[in-house]
Amino acid sequence: MNLADERAAIEVAMRASFPQAEERVARFYAMQEYHLGWRDEELRPAMFDPGKLLRPRLCLLCCRAAGGDPRVALPLAAAIQLIHDFSLIHDDIEDQGETRRGRPTVWKLWGLAQGINTGDGMFVVAHLALHRLAQTGTPATTVLDVLRRFDETILKICEGQFLDLSYEGDLQIDEAAYLAMIERKTAVLLAAAAELGALVGGADEETARAFYDFGRALGLAFQIEDDVLGIWGDPAQTGKPFAADLYRHKLSLPVIYALTTAPDRERLAALYARPSLDESDVRAILAILDATGARVYAEGAAAAFHGEALAALDRVSGDGTALATLRTITTSLLGRRA
Ligand code: IPE
Ligand code: IPE
Ligand code: MG
Ligand code: MG
Repeated sequence: MNLADERAAIEVAMRASFPQAEERVARFYAMQEYHLGWRDEELRPAMFDPGKLLRPRLCLLCCRAAGGDPRVALPLAAAIQLIHDFSLIHDDIEDQGETRRGRPTVWKLWGLAQGINTGDGMFVVAHLALHRLAQTGTPATTVLDVLRRFDETILKICEGQFLDLSYEGDLQIDEAAYLAMIERKTAVLLAAAAELGALVGGADEETARAFYDFGRALGLAFQIEDDVLGIWGDPAQTGKPFAADLYRHKLSLPVIYALTTAPDRERLAALYARPSLDESDVRAILAILDATGARVYAEGAAAAFHGEALAALDRVSGDGTALATLRTITTSLLGRRA
């Protein structure tokens, strides 16, 4: 499968997981489809950015790397992307994020209550997607095992979101606490994408573990890069608002680093302690972060986890082409701009 075919196949598998909607509830599903980029603000069919589809692509590649047929793993790939999208719909409510993939967020358009319910709907559709594994030839015992690991992963994501929200504005948070948070909110889903894809592809436990470790390390790197983008990213490229993590008082890695090492860390702490930040506060915070080398530090940490991810792949002897593509994707994510 080339990249365009792969993206199209993932979308087909996602669409197949939605029920045939009765007219009365058509808008419930249409709001979910709006988030996925399949409908515009008037809920007419459209084609907007559906995201990078990184996790489902990892899932299919790890299935292939483990010797399986990626078509068999398509329902799982769809489930993983839908759970990612569920988490984003709720994350945008939790973070008061007004823009996602360059468009207004669901809650911004239709209110908090419908936003929550739209996310809930997608949570269930993701599970329905996973159940379809049984229809593409995966044995029922494997489906049950994958389902359990899938649900354990989602609970970890919720733990991570709990920590992320409880850390907001807490200047005592250190790097270890931060890593425990991003492992849960982000890394476990990339880990599960890789591990479960490999399991559906027929991997033994040891191989599946290597894929898990690969996805986990890549996920840690990915979130650290997201933190860099959440401060220095260009909204035109990220599709998210400027310096959103600073306005939300997020304890991301560059901020934690600067809070412990910046010569004027007390000024930074005082700024971060303000209940609401205006543009000049954010400019002052940015100046302190830049002067401390907080960005370079975070990028170095991300690069180290990228190295760990590549080392985990070395433990696998599988399909060489798929493994090479996994290495290429890993390397291309370093220093990403979106
Ligand atoms: C955004 O994930 C949320 C994080 C866990 C950092 P992505 O950067 O993969 O978002 P999309 O799906 O490509 O928009
Ligand atoms: C995303 O965290 C993690 C989940 C959605 C589980 P962030 O809040 O850091 O991601 P963005 O920057 O809004 O995409
Ligand atoms: Mg968040
Ligand atoms: Mg967010």
